[in-house]
Amino acid sequence: MKRIAVLASGRGSNFQAVLDAICAGTIRAGCVRLITDKPGAYAITRAEQAGIPVTVLDYASYPSKQAYEADLLAAMQDCGADIFVLAGYMRIVGDAIVEAFAGRMINIHPALLPSFTGLHAQRQAIEYGVKVAGCTVHFVDTGLDSGPIIIQACVPVLDGDDEDTLAGRILVEEHRVLPRAVSLLCDDRIQVEGRHVRILPPPKAL
Ligand code: GRF
Repeated sequence: MKRIAVLASGRGSNFQAVLDAICAGTIRAGCVRLITDKPGAYAITRAEQAGIPVTVLDYASYPSKQAYEADLLAAMQDCGADIFVLAGYMRIVGDAIVEAFAGRMINIHPALLPSFTGLHAQRQAIEYGVKVAGCTVHFVDTGLDSGPIIIQACVPVLDGDDEDTLAGRILVEEHRVLPRAVSLLCDDRIQVEGRHVRILPPPKAL
């Protein structure tokens, strides 16, 4: 069984969705650690409730991004996870970490990539006036929300939507597709060729 670690910066509802799927047996893996850059993140409470060990690396207490990333890389290596899930982790991961965990690190982004990368994706979608929005689970590469796409889900943008109502509608889909992608990765059912991700069928039962 694979071991996963989750990186989260805030509320942790996507982290919770992954934990729930592990409990329900739809993700066949164990969660070995939560790593957070924010001492006040509610994700920490969720981890404690689930008995998951937490590493807090308070970004604000580091003299530089380089120093923070060195400790983050060490924490990721030390926790013994096979797979890393960025679930509302609000920082760009540096090249050394991307290289160390290539093909083993995924992120959830609340937009239909390649549109609306970076922060405030839902606000960007509202301001642009798109009629369809959504979320994307993708591998992490050295670009901004630019790695090969594993799963996307879309939702309508309705008249009268604001950033919050749209974010809520997208979040429902995030909680569905992130555990799905984690499960596929844990079951070795994801094949990557360049930018293209192929989902392999489940193995035939004996
Ligand atoms: C989600 O919308 C995620 O896609 C984005 O930040 C939000 C985090 O929500 N990157 P939560 O912490 O998982 O509740």
